[in-house]
Amino acid sequence: MRIWAVANQKGGVGKTTTAVTLAGLLSQRGQRVLLVDMDPHGSMTSYMGYDPDGDGSSLYSLFHGGCGSVAAMIRNTQFEKISILTASTALATLDRQLGTQDGKGLVIARGLSQISDDYDYALLDCPPTLGVLMVNALAACHYLIVPVQSEFLALKGLERMMRTISMMNHARMAPIPYLIVPTLFDRRTRASGQALENMKERYPQALWNSIIPVDTQFREASRAGSPISHVASRSRGSIAYSELLEELLMFDESDHGIAAG
Ligand SMILES: Nc1ncnc2c1ncn2[C@@H]1O[C@H](COP(=O)(O)OP(=O)(O)OP(=O)(O)O)[C@@H](O)[C@H]1O
Ligand SMILES: [Mg+2]
Repeated sequence: MRIWAVANQKGGVGKTTTAVTLAGLLSQRGQRVLLVDMDPHGSMTSYMGYDPDGDGSSLYSLFHGGCGSVAAMIRNTQFEKISILTASTALATLDRQLGTQDGKGLVIARGLSQISDDYDYALLDCPPTLGVLMVNALAACHYLIVPVQSEFLALKGLERMMRTISMMNHARMAPIPYLIVPTLFDRRTRASGQALENMKERYPQALWNSIIPVDTQFREASRAGSPISHVASRSRGSIAYSELLEELLMFDESDHGIAAG
């Protein structure tokens, strides 16, 4: 199983959309995908039709020693080949409860290793804040996707994310290879163009050479609880993510993706 994390220390940049869309596209290629919702807000959990305020199984129990095997916590979605480990709002209390305990950074890595033969890909959707959940995702992943909204303010979040990556690299055996993905790109606005130029200047090696455009079909897809690939496969947004997937597969398979500097 390959593990990809989707993270940025900024809200609303398209993290959940990226994880769900890539899951849809991978599943259409016959890959078995496990979505892991690591955000206490549970947007991805809701997207897939579950209630983060409900009392069903969630990642929370994994952090508290688990109740049985990880496999038993996984739920099906209405999409063949896409399963999910759901989030619950209780995840928000983890930092306070576990903050300083040793070994709590590897809960996800260890949990996923139990089921590594059951899925081809695990896609981890991170919260926009640095805490035990983000640390777990970055410790577990083979590859990191950093969506960045194409606007000036988003670049601050990206800087914070870059600092977090270098901090994590000190603790990992190997640096995290990552790709910065400009999202919500609106070619009619100067702000989008300028933000992209800025990213090109500052992160020339780690930046994807294309963009994900603004596309209203994403909102429609999330309303329908479906990856865009399943409801609007010919939309600009879906096509852009297919191109991104090609790129990710190429880097990931080459085994020497773009390493953090
Ligand atoms: N390319 C896009 N075009 C148009 N709308 C988009 C696009 N990407 C995401 N959106 C919409 O923008 C909103 C935020 O996206 P999303 O939830 O994926 O961001 P996020 O980074 O996961 O946010 P959070 O930090 O709150 O978890 C959603 O309503 C989503 O449907
Ligand atoms: Mg999200």
